[in-house]
Amino acid sequence: MAELVEVTFLPDDRTAWVSPGTNLVDAGAAAGVEVVTGCTRGMCGTDPVVVREGADGLAPPTDDERATLDRMGLGPEYRLACSAAVRAGRVVVELGSF
Ligand code: FES
Repeated sequence: MAELVEVTFLPDDRTAWVSPGTNLVDAGAAAGVEVVTGCTRGMCGTDPVVVREGADGLAPPTDDERATLDRMGLGPEYRLACSAAVRAGRVVVELGSF
């Protein structure tokens, strides 16, 4: 079994340990944090988060996710929670209005 990934959500400072491949919405649910979503496919841009630590612990963005973030004017430190899947180590993300 693959090692679990530690995911911390700011500003509430809640943490969950989840399997690689889990997206940040499901990781948030495991941590007791609700991440509001829309399309859940990386298209609508409802769920941006800022990666504060451990960007390498996330799988790279898909073309759809990156295109949506670009359209929103959000840089490489941002990810869409529905589309960003954890892969290893420790990740810290911040929720908010961006
Ligand atoms: S819910 Fe639409 S981009 Fe994530």
